[in-house]
Amino acid sequence: TQEQLYLQEITRFKTKEQFWNPYPWYKEMRENSPVFYDEQQDTWNVFLYKDAKQVAGDYQLFSSARDRSLIPVPLQDNKVNLIFADPPDHRKRRGLLAKAFTPRSLETWKPRIQNLVHELIERVAAGKAVDIVEELAVPLPVTVIAKLLGVPTGDWKQIKEWSDILFMSHDYNRIEELNRLKEQAGREFSEYLYPIVMEKRLNLEDDLLSDLIQAEYEGAFFNDTEIVQTVMGLLGAGNETTTTLITNMFYCLAEDQPDAYGQLRKDPGLVPQTVEEVLRYRFNIALDRRIASDTDVFGPLMRKDQLIIAWVSSANRDESQFPNGEIFDIHREGAGKHLTFGSGNHFCLGAPLARMEAVYALEAFVKRFARYRLADDFIPKDHLGPNSHELKSLSIVVEE
Ligand code: HEM
Repeated sequence: TQEQLYLQEITRFKTKEQFWNPYPWYKEMRENSPVFYDEQQDTWNVFLYKDAKQVAGDYQLFSSARDRSLIPVPLQDNKVNLIFADPPDHRKRRGLLAKAFTPRSLETWKPRIQNLVHELIERVAAGKAVDIVEELAVPLPVTVIAKLLGVPTGDWKQIKEWSDILFMSHDYNRIEELNRLKEQAGREFSEYLYPIVMEKRLNLEDDLLSDLIQAEYEGAFFNDTEIVQTVMGLLGAGNETTTTLITNMFYCLAEDQPDAYGQLRKDPGLVPQTVEEVLRYRFNIALDRRIASDTDVFGPLMRKDQLIIAWVSSANRDESQFPNGEIFDIHREGAGKHLTFGSGNHFCLGAPLARMEAVYALEAFVKRFARYRLADDFIPKDHLGPNSHELKSLSIVVEE
């Protein structure tokens, strides 16, 4: 049976304030228990930058082949799944998708993404409170990934609903209910995708779905089920995360460094490094691996097959890498060293795409609006979503 793991159980967080602001706990762990064994969960936990980086990238010691995971999607292994594979299999599987995601291939998508950004930003009304999550942070990533894959973009609301459910974090108090919901969403989502794949087989186009249909893996082509599962995985992977990035970006620029927005207006060349600083400073993420053999690399003896968690958001504030790490600063040098996209062979395949979306969104926004602020009555902890550390809405007031 698959053991489940609950971050809540390790952090012992109880209040919404703690979920929204876990950073004091990370700091305490970095200072007092940087390598921590959680007996109840039988997991090792690392909080320093160098350790987290090694856990993410050293696949010989820390394997991705595992039967329990923090990643809140059902563990389906198949020939195309990357997340749970180690080299050499991993390399072959990744090769099938990698081509579509290189910055060069994405270059051809630039005008389409920019047009979409403009359409969405045109709809943002000045002078009254608008929810920037609903207006921009949600529709942008889901529409882009649907276009890239070759799935009807008009269905984005339904696609978003399914992937929200599939990627919902485990909740200790609602295990059965969530499993039921996820099963149903997975079934409906694949019933929706099968006819699209069949249709695409007859009319190949310039999209990722057509690439997958034509890809050969160890002398064979993928069947419909494998393709449907890959598409579902990508629609999910590219969605929630990029929405969180864009939302957090708007939060950081309003609250964490209020004079930054004016500086960005004067010098939009600062936009890409601002996006990196948001990824470093405000993105809650942890990665897990299975310990592949007994080891004492971090000091204490850790046993083969125990689970280890790299607390990336803690690593991203490790002072040894990021001086004044608890401060958000768009002028920071080296913010891009953050581990929010992982490290090593599993480094996020969609990183160039996520970066592009956030950069274009912010560039267009600073060009269009003189300033913005959070709506007066906006209190972050009252707007946390089902994944408890993410804002499900962010109410802002913009001025032209
Ligand atoms: C892998 C984060 C956006 C597709 C990963 C990993 C992280 C990550 C941390 C590594 C997992 C591990 O080491 O176990 C993020 C963040 C994003 C983002 C923070 C947005 C801000 C995207 C997008 C796509 C995508 C837009 C694609 C459409 C993938 C895929 C992998 C992956 C396919 C698996 C790579 C592999 O295992 O080799 N992502 N991701 N991600 N991501 Fe992303």
